[in-house]
Amino acid sequence: MIEQRRADGSLRHLITLETLRRDEIESLLLRSQHFARAIGERPPTGRSLQGVTIANLFTEPSTRTRVSFELAGRRLGAEVVNLEVQLSSRVKGESMLDTIFTLQALHFDVFVIRDAEPGVLAHVSSHVAAGVSVLSAGEAHLSHPTQGLLDALTIRQHKGSIEPLSIAIVGDIRHSRVARSAYQVLRILQAHEIRIVAPPALMPEAHEFVGCPRFETLERGLEGVDVIMMLRIQKERFAETAIPDGEEYFLRYGLTPARLARARPDAIVMHPQPMNRGIEIASDIADGPQSVIRSQVSNGVAVRMAVLETVASRLSS
Ligand code: NCD
Repeated sequence: MIEQRRADGSLRHLITLETLRRDEIESLLLRSQHFARAIGERPPTGRSLQGVTIANLFTEPSTRTRVSFELAGRRLGAEVVNLEVQLSSRVKGESMLDTIFTLQALHFDVFVIRDAEPGVLAHVSSHVAAGVSVLSAGEAHLSHPTQGLLDALTIRQHKGSIEPLSIAIVGDIRHSRVARSAYQVLRILQAHEIRIVAPPALMPEAHEFVGCPRFETLERGLEGVDVIMMLRIQKERFAETAIPDGEEYFLRYGLTPARLARARPDAIVMHPQPMNRGIEIASDIADGPQSVIRSQVSNGVAVRMAVLETVASRLSS
C-alpha cells in the first residue's frame, strides 16, 4: 500500500484518494471551497507557500492540469518550474528517479508528476528525501486524485450534499484514471448510487468499481440520474479495434439532448476535457445550461491550491 502520510498522520503525498479518510477529503474540499471563485471574480492569493519550490514534471500531454497546478502554486507564493519532457534529460535515457535526484539537489520541495507508467508515483514517493512531497497529476489509467477532488467539489457546489445523489459515469471507464478517482472519492463521500455506463469493450474488469450498477445502454443508464460524468475515449491507452469509430460511437453512446432528457431535469453534465464534440458529447450540451464543465476547470485551481498548501505549507515557515 502507498504510504501518503507522515509519522504524525498529516498528508505528505497525494497519489491516490483510495486510502484517504472521509474527514481528510472533507477538509481538502473545505479548503478548496475557500479558494474557489466564480468565473469573472478575482482569484484569491496568499503567501502560505512562500519559499516553496515546485517542479511540474509531465511526461504526458496536459493543458488544464499543468496550468492549474502552476497557477495554484504561484497564487500562494511558491516558485514553480515546468519541466517539458522534450527538454528533460529523461529523453536522453536518464530514469525518472535520476531526474528527481537532480532536482532534489536543486532544492525542490514538491514534485507534481504525470506519467503513463503505472507505479511510477509510488516508486518516486518512496525514494524522495524527507520533507519532499510527491503529487500525482495523473498516473496511467489508475488515478488522478486532484481531478477526483475537483469533480466532488463541483458536484457539491451545484447539488449540495453528495449522499442522496445518483451519478452516472459514462464512456471509456476501462482506461480512465478520471473515472477511478471519481469512484473513489464519491464512494468515500457515500454517494447514493454510482452507475457505470459503457460499451462492453470499455467496461472495467469485474473486480473494479465494486457495487456500481453496470449499464451497456446509455438511455437506461441515464434514467433519473442527478449527475452525468462524460469521459473521453483514451485511444492512447489501448490498441483495440472493437471500438466503433467516432460517428458510430456517438450514435450509441454520445450525449444528445434526447438522452439527457432521461436524467433528472436539474441534472448536471460534467467532462474532464479534452472533449471530443460530436463523439462523446453534442456541442449544444457541452455549452448548454446543464453543463458545469467550465466550473470544473476553475475548481481545478482551487483544489490544487488546497492540496499544495496541505502538503507543503509547513515548509515555508
Ligand atoms: C484527463 C486526463 O488527462 O486524465 N484530463 C484532465 O486531466 N482533465 C482526461 C483525458 O485526458 O481524457
